[in-house]
Amino acid sequence: MSAQDTSMFDDLLQEKRAFDPPEEFTRNAVVRNDECYKRAQEDYEGYWEDEAKELKWFSPWKKVLDWSPPHARWFVDGKINISFNCLDRHLNTPRRNKAAIIWEGEDGEVKTITYLQLFREVCKFSNCLKKLGVRKGDIVAIYMPMLVESAIAMLACARIGAIHNVVFGGFSPDSLAERINDSKAKVVITADGGWRRGRVLGLKHNTDRAVEHCPSVEHVINVKRIPGESYLLNMEDGRDHWYHQLMYGTSDSCPAEELDSEDISFILYTSGTTGKPKGIVHSTGGYAVGAYSTNKYVFDLKEEDIFWCTADVGWITGHSYVVYGPLLCGATILMYEGAPDFPEKDRFWNMIAHHKVSVFYTAPTAIRAFMKWGDEYPAGHDLSSLRLLGSVGEPINPEAWIWYYTNIGKGRCPVVDTWWQTETGSIMISALPGVTTLKPGFAGPAMPGIDATVLDEKGNEVVQGSGLLAIRKPWPSMIRTIWGDDERYVQTYFSKWDNRTYFPGDGAKRDAAGNFMILGRVDDVLNVAGHRIGTMEIESALVDHPAVAEAAVVGKAHEIKGQAIVAFVSLKGSSKADIALLSELKEHVVEKIGALARPEDILITPDLPKTRSGKIMRRLLRDIAEGRALSDVTTLADPDVVADLRAEYEENYGA
Ligand code: PRX
Repeated sequence: MSAQDTSMFDDLLQEKRAFDPPEEFTRNAVVRNDECYKRAQEDYEGYWEDEAKELKWFSPWKKVLDWSPPHARWFVDGKINISFNCLDRHLNTPRRNKAAIIWEGEDGEVKTITYLQLFREVCKFSNCLKKLGVRKGDIVAIYMPMLVESAIAMLACARIGAIHNVVFGGFSPDSLAERINDSKAKVVITADGGWRRGRVLGLKHNTDRAVEHCPSVEHVINVKRIPGESYLLNMEDGRDHWYHQLMYGTSDSCPAEELDSEDISFILYTSGTTGKPKGIVHSTGGYAVGAYSTNKYVFDLKEEDIFWCTADVGWITGHSYVVYGPLLCGATILMYEGAPDFPEKDRFWNMIAHHKVSVFYTAPTAIRAFMKWGDEYPAGHDLSSLRLLGSVGEPINPEAWIWYYTNIGKGRCPVVDTWWQTETGSIMISALPGVTTLKPGFAGPAMPGIDATVLDEKGNEVVQGSGLLAIRKPWPSMIRTIWGDDERYVQTYFSKWDNRTYFPGDGAKRDAAGNFMILGRVDDVLNVAGHRIGTMEIESALVDHPAVAEAAVVGKAHEIKGQAIVAFVSLKGSSKADIALLSELKEHVVEKIGALARPEDILITPDLPKTRSGKIMRRLLRDIAEGRALSDVTTLADPDVVADLRAEYEENYGA
């Protein structure tokens, strides 16, 4: 989608409804007035310094911010450990024996683990990693389902200063191998499998296939999740280890490493505009401050809350709002392994009622699916424990917002629509639930301490109308660089206008009160069911198939997923275009990347529309896929190509 394509946002622009925070909510909220905004505006560094002081540092920083654009260092020379702050920091408080994680398996199994227990498990696993030779600065890949052990693995890496690289369990062996090789991971932590809609996802099998091509991997640690002997695995002597066997008898004493604030805490790969995913590098101190502060302010977390963020740990939301942020706040997290519609479409509501979830954070794509499944599913459950709802990952249309507010929140719970990215580390734009008047479709104002604005291509501020979202000042949890490619970091994020203004790649609009409406990506990055995927990655997967000569991928609006993938493909001379080939091509993309990249439609075409200089005109392909009037075709080398394509697309897919 481009920032100019605001037609689908027309309903948003007409949206007049506004919702003030319920009085009772404000009375008890962490933030009750706009003081924090004022404080941050008057003394930006002082504001962040105060936030940082709420965490435990082994030694204090000498300087809050060292900004040599476009590189920032926060809390310079401060020494900290995020795992210590998530665990040890709570042990001398009444939280010691409070639930840190309540985990529910898809098969209904429930485990509760207290802060003290989690601390002990993390210490033990840290020692296991050390036994295998993992040291500070080493990379550990984590390819896991949603298990308590996934959080333990992340926190154990952080404890000893190893850098984790979590790879979403839905990625294919090829994608896993690419991420292991780019980061040169020494160890992979995986599980024999995880349950998804009653079936086992064979993660260890995928890992075996991946590590065949990964010379850096010395050890694979395998968590046993699937009961019984039936799930037999290939365990290679010397390389493969069972998690429970490593843990047995291991000491639970492991002091946390005193890390520099700027030491890398983790890498997380995300999609960009090239075929190669980028390893987003996050710091230790600044990241911890961002994750902590936003959890406290946006989710208003209290001692008695049960916070359920439905994201997978394979995404940044799972890092900042499943694991690190809530634990930094001393909250209780609910973690769920499986699908929202298994065994029935009321699974989430059943879990909210059962576990008495009070704060619930999910994605618009899920909300739209719930809407479609029917109001009767939530209506059949007692959702009165909820007090706050959140949304993340893509624009939420007012219809879905209102449905969420009415059917899940019963008109009692504020809905915070939070904008941020893998690169930002934590929430950048959001309502504060006790303060902000909510407007469906608007993500809200910039968070305190975040200098967001809307600029035009030339860098002029856009007061009215749409433009490009921009962040003018550094913030603690910002990306530090791209792993192994600092030049790409500078080019992608800090060269649109000048070298000090961050370009997130999203279009935006702002209202008179300073609320931002996010219009979606302005680059060749798609957002499919809340998952970020680059068109070039899918194109590379398609041209990898022997029959394909050339491919162009665009997104089209989709009722549930937000965007769906449409591919236009031209074949090599002798290849035959038939139904079998279409499904083979779709499967090929799944095999190369993962199910999240499966194209919705593929159109075989003799030619792709190109400019006279040979550039594929994706804009026209988007018009075709979305059934719009064709935009300017004057630069096309051969205008007939587009007319033919459109006729064919309409015939096949009825756009
Ligand atoms: O386009 C924006 C969209 O998701 C992108 C970031 O994707 P990712 O790095 O995978 O992180 C997703 C979870 C933080 C952004 O560039 N996006 C995220 N949140 C919103 C959003 N678009 C509109 N509204 C949001 N609340």
